Amino acid sequence: MRVLITGGAGFIGSHTADALKAKGYKVRILDCLLKPVHTGRWPKYVLGKGFELIKGDVRNKKDWVRALQGADYVLHLAAYQDQLPDFSTFFHINTAGTAMMYEVIAEKKFPIKKIVLASSQFVYGDGKYRCRHSGKVFYPELRPMAQKEKAMWPILCEHGKPAKFFPFREDQPVFPPNAYGLSKIALEQLAFRFGKTHTIPTVALRYSIVQGPRQSPLNAYSGALRIFVTQALTERPLTVYEDGRQLRDFVNVADVVAANMLVMQNKKADYQIFNVGCGKGYRVLDFAKMVKRITGTTSPIVVGGFRRTDTRHAVSDISKLKGLGWRPRYQPEKAIRDYVRWIQAEKFDLGFVRHTAKKLKNLGVVG
Ligand SMILES: NC(=O)c1ccc[n+]([C@@H]2O[C@H](COP(=O)([O-])OP(=O)(O)OC[C@H]3O[C@@H](n4cnc5c(N)ncnc54)[C@H](O)[C@@H]3O)[C@@H](O)[C@H]2O)c1
Repeated sequence: MRVLITGGAGFIGSHTADALKAKGYKVRILDCLLKPVHTGRWPKYVLGKGFELIKGDVRNKKDWVRALQGADYVLHLAAYQDQLPDFSTFFHINTAGTAMMYEVIAEKKFPIKKIVLASSQFVYGDGKYRCRHSGKVFYPELRPMAQKEKAMWPILCEHGKPAKFFPFREDQPVFPPNAYGLSKIALEQLAFRFGKTHTIPTVALRYSIVQGPRQSPLNAYSGALRIFVTQALTERPLTVYEDGRQLRDFVNVADVVAANMLVMQNKKADYQIFNVGCGKGYRVLDFAKMVKRITGTTSPIVVGGFRRTDTRHAVSDISKLKGLGWRPRYQPEKAIRDYVRWIQAEKFDLGFVRHTAKKLKNLGVVG
């Protein structure tokens, strides 16, 4: 059986490639080696392993034809990410790229057994809240800039009081807060539509924040772990947005790989959406403190400022995937240790970190 992994030179894709190879699958990777994630060359962790490497772009039909020919399964992970303001790129790569995959499969009648798509927790936006006074449930709009500028961080109910947050469930309404989230929800919808119409079993996984080695530190625009670790290792202040009390769930890449494998192999997953998280919310400030302790940096933690499209909390309910027998095995501390060890061993030049904050400010991503 041959598995095509798009974005297989990246963080989650390369770990999934290793796991598939260990199970006896042939692995083919389609990746354009996008900058700044990559330097333009195949990373050494995909070399010498017997993977078939295709340098190509998911926006290019010829590359799809070459990559899909002879494949049995597709793990579609290639994506444009973060919160940068070049909105259209998210749709060209994530949405149109996915539509083109189904187009080629349908046109060429390729007998693909299943497609597993990487979606994101970002599709939920701020999610579901309940007023503590009236009990009324509501799905808030992104907090207005004016509210953030006054450093009023909580989601407020109609009485102007902090409301109660509920972890995201797959069947709740979605309110993507930015181009990335919008491109992912559009990707899910078109994939299920074309998948059902052309009988190509399709599964979408909404990952929470994934952590572990091989997450490129060169792309320093998002990802709490890579931002805090690169700041800590360059002895710069660890910048925690808002008041640091916002909750996030951090899932280890090994648990994500296990989820990818499970839904690829299990027919019960077909045409379904699953959250993939660690099952617990952590305050971002506490997470930064963990990074500070583990790296031993003397850098201070600085709390304040905000990102334009950040949601207040982001924690996923993972009971649906647990129903298929999957369990997260790791909590964040292991990913921090593994990541620090990997970055130090790879000897990355992290000099660019000192310019990142200014760049994000100039681009309007950070307020
Ligand atoms: N890492 C996370 O925290 C996280 C969270 C939620 C969802 N996801 C999703 O998981 C998937 C994998 O993410 P990752 O963290 O491994 O990211 P990554 O950046 O390490 O890997 C993505 C890969 O896609 C490739 N790529 C980008 N544009 C491409 C294009 N046009 N054509 C071909 N290849 C292209 C990149 O070169 C890269 O190797 C993505 O779809 C992402 O949206 C990741």
